[in-house]
This record gives sequence, structure tokens and C-alpha cells, in this order.
Amino acid sequence: MTDASSVVGRDDGHATQYPLAPSTTVSVDQNASLLSWGSGSAPSLPSVDGESQTETTSISGSMRSSTMSLDSSLCHFVEENGRTYHRYKEGRYFLPNDAAEQERLDLQHQLFTIAIGGKLYIAPVPENPKRVLDIATGTGIWAIDFAVQHPRSQVIGTDLSPIQPQFLPENCKFEIDDAEDEWTFSEPFDFIHGRALMSCFNDPAAVVRQAFAHLAPGGLMEFQDALFPMSYIGEAPTASALYRWNQLMMEGVGRLGRSWSNVQHYRRYFEEAGFVDIVEKRFYWPTSPWAKGLYYKTVAAYFQEDMLAGLEAMSLKVLGGLGMSPRQIREFVEDVKRDFLDTNLHAYLTVTYIYGYKPQYPL
Ligand SMILES: C[S@@+](CC[C@H](N)C(=O)[O-])C[C@H]1O[C@@H](n2cnc3c(N)ncnc32)[C@H](O)[C@@H]1O
Repeated sequence: MTDASSVVGRDDGHATQYPLAPSTTVSVDQNASLLSWGSGSAPSLPSVDGESQTETTSISGSMRSSTMSLDSSLCHFVEENGRTYHRYKEGRYFLPNDAAEQERLDLQHQLFTIAIGGKLYIAPVPENPKRVLDIATGTGIWAIDFAVQHPRSQVIGTDLSPIQPQFLPENCKFEIDDAEDEWTFSEPFDFIHGRALMSCFNDPAAVVRQAFAHLAPGGLMEFQDALFPMSYIGEAPTASALYRWNQLMMEGVGRLGRSWSNVQHYRRYFEEAGFVDIVEKRFYWPTSPWAKGLYYKTVAAYFQEDMLAGLEAMSLKVLGGLGMSPRQIREFVEDVKRDFLDTNLHAYLTVTYIYGYKPQYPL
């Protein structure tokens, strides 16, 4: 395990922007945290909006116009196809870690929180859990937000990439670590969190077991993750680029030793590790404002922007592994992007939030 502060490659622009001011440029923010999906404990499936879809919720400004920048002279990252990738444990993870990807992750953070009413988690987390761990923390935005909201908690975020900010709340720090290696933390945690992990691990069940072992009795763990392939209202549009992209990505990710459907097994992983009182909630993210209601239109605006920004990076290595050239991938991705903008295509992603407790006493 390496202290992140000893590794070059930080994004200082990002660091100065956050936590002093949240970095995303989203016009619906004030309302988004108040968004609710109705009276149930999780939203029902989206339904198609039969009305005009010209008035849509939009994200103001461009993610790409942000002032965040990554000084590549400070980085010791691996470069490929104009993107950079982590150097520590090179090749373990197939998405980039450059400024564009960091911006996408910070936007995706907004999406994950807006989807649950502006919160960082759905678990009944006590006011200031003593020790908190965020595995595969990315830019660290969740860990920093948690540290700010729980000033008496000590928060640690770990990741393969040293892309977290330098200026942090005193109760937050980052370490470079592979979550699939043996964990060496000397003290147990009271809350462990992991989000968007679907591309990260060869053996996610083993990570869940390690997390269980490193929780204090009565401690909580929450995972938040997406289930691919996407679903559709009505018949699946099998001739569309979006449908084909989903199928090809499932195949390509499998060849890389990962699965984008792991989330459907999380409850079993939790149970087998020893977690009890497990709660699982599903949320739905439409690809465009085709679904009725402000909640779904807002979630869709963020999800669409997230995917438009991330499609190429997700596809480069995965579809490259299936034999497609970077040029073919980029052309294909343009077709997929068009499908994301098409409100006649009623596709959505299912996203699961799941938490459970380590029993107070061994069972
Ligand atoms: C999709 S990002 C999610 C980041 C963060 N959890 C969030 O939701 O904003 C996945 C992150 O996991 C990290 N990662 C991938 N494999 C990992 C591993 N084996 N151990 C630790 N971090 C890993 C990547 O470097 C990347 O930052």
C-alpha cells in the first residue's frame, strides 16, 4: 500500500476546485438534491413520456469546458490512443485516468447521488462512524463529501490511480492500493463503501469477504453499481447501435476477465461473506428524456452526459480486445451516441444500491 501523497500524478487543478467549491457545472443542482421519485422506497420503472420532449432538463455548460487540467509532465502514467492509464499494477483496469475521465467520474458522482435524492448512500449510517473506507475511490469525490458531512469520521479512499486532490479535509486521506491484494489496515472500519466497481475486480466476491473481515462488529457496507446490458421498454431494438454496443461490451469485458453483470450476485456475495439485514434497492437511469417526470428527466440528463463523455474510453480497450481498430471503434461510438440522443429509443440502465451489516456477535 502506498500513501497517495508520495506518488506523482495528481490533478492540482481539481484539488483547488474541490472541496472549496464542488466541481460540476450543472444547472439543475439546487433542485436535483430535492428530487423525489414518488412515495415508494425506490422508483418504479420509467414510463414513456407521450408529451412533447422538446422541454428537457439539461446540464448547463460543458463538462469539457471545466478548468480542471492534468499536467502530464507530472504524470507517470501509461499513454495509449491519446489517453492515459494507471501505471501502478499496469493493465489491471481498462478505463483511463486522465482529466477527461476524472471529469466524467465527478459528473457520475452527481448522477449516483441525485438518483437517491442527493444523498451519498442509502444505508442508515450513524452520524459520525469512526473509520470509513471508500474502495476504488476514483477522484475521491465521494470520500471527500463524506468527510465534509461527517467531520468526526476518519475517511480513507484507496485506488490504483493517484488522481485524488491534494488539498483535503483533515479527516480524509488517500492511499494507492489494489483492493484485490491482501488488505493491510491495522484497525477495522465502521463503514465501507464501494461504487461503480463493475469493471474493477476479477473476483468481486473475494473483495466482499475481505471487506467483511475488515469491518468492526455491527459495521455497515454499501455497494452501488450498474447492471449491464441495458433494458428497454417494449421490444429490444436489436438493429440499433446501442443494442449491439451492449452485446459487444458484455463479450469484450468478459474476455478481459470482468463482468458487467456482477451486481446481480452482490446479495449472494454479501450473504456468503456473513452480512445480515441486507437491503437492496434498484433505480433506473433512462438514456435520454424519453421517460415521464422531472426525476427521470434529470437522471437521464446526467446519465446521457456521462455516457456521451465515457463511451469512447469504455470502448477503446474492450472492443479493441475483440479485434476492432481504434478508427472502427470511434466510428461505431458515434452511432451509439446518436442512439443515446434518440428519444424514440426507450432504453434504461438498472442501478442497484445494496447494504448489509456485519453482525455484532459471530453467528
Ligand atoms: C468507475 S471508477 C469509480 C470511482 C469511484 N468509486 C466513484 O464512484 O466515483 C473505478 C475506479 O476503480 C479503480 N480501480 C479499478 N480496479 C481497482 C482495484 N483492483 N483496486 C483499487 N482500485 C481499482 C480505478 O482506478 C477507478 O478509479
